[in-house]
Amino acid sequence: MVTVRAPATSANLGSGFDVFGAALTRPADVVTVEKAAETTIEVTGVGAQYIPEDPEKNTVGAVVEALDAPARIHIDKGVRPASGLGSSAASAAGAAVALNRLYDRGRSRSELVPIAAEGEAVVSGVAHSDNVAPSILGGFTVTTSEATHAVDAAVPLVVCLPDVAVSTRDARRVVPETASMDDLVATVGNAATLAVGMCRSDPDLVGAGMSDPVVTPERARLITGYDDVRAAAFDAGAAGVTVSGAGPAIIAVCREGSRRRVAAAMLDAFSEAGVDARAYQTEIGKGSTILEE
Ligand code: HSE
Repeated sequence: MVTVRAPATSANLGSGFDVFGAALTRPADVVTVEKAAETTIEVTGVGAQYIPEDPEKNTVGAVVEALDAPARIHIDKGVRPASGLGSSAASAAGAAVALNRLYDRGRSRSELVPIAAEGEAVVSGVAHSDNVAPSILGGFTVTTSEATHAVDAAVPLVVCLPDVAVSTRDARRVVPETASMDDLVATVGNAATLAVGMCRSDPDLVGAGMSDPVVTPERARLITGYDDVRAAAFDAGAAGVTVSGAGPAIIAVCREGSRRRVAAAMLDAFSEAGVDARAYQTEIGKGSTILEE
């Protein structure tokens, strides 16, 4: 038996659509696997009622296939589905790391990234790796079709999750098909600034580099109260605020010592917009961890 803790993640970070990702110290899924002749999946925890246990439809089924590793699998969800916090990716990442160890498949962490991404595709429709990469490798990650690069970064964060669901499939429908050259140049500049900020663990640079004129404005429209919550986070001292992944969670980069204030301001603003929410005070953290074997 192998048990793995796989962290929630925040993809895009504004300017890095489908490229950037960050592992969060909380929340997380816990995946336990045990060898079996046939694969079965049991899901408990937050939002378990919305997650199919049929291996053909669950994010973990494709991972089992790819590693040829049939197992009895238990997923304890800490990451709510349709949250913008890489819920299905956390389960796929945890399963990939756990099954690789259970069956001694010898794949490196980097080799497990595309395998877990195939699992992601089952639920989101696209095999992008910007959530599975940080959930497996930890830190801040840059994923292209060729490779993933991960760096450790110490950056305080708040993620505020409203009590509404936005599916990745729906949120991908509002992504514009084209962008102007001006917007492209601005986005490249912002993304580069953010990456330098991560390498220096500098929240001000990371925050300054989060701006994205192309995808985020379209997605923000799907989140009731977004503009007010964003403004409230900045007023409380955040260095940057954007949609987390496909939403509806909103991520704020915080300067040292400001997380509590930022979290409270974001919750108040959601409440004033008539939306229940919860806030996680978190930071960039480790990837999937084997808890027991
Ligand atoms: N990059 C993806 C998106 C992450 O924004 O659609 C969500 O799974």
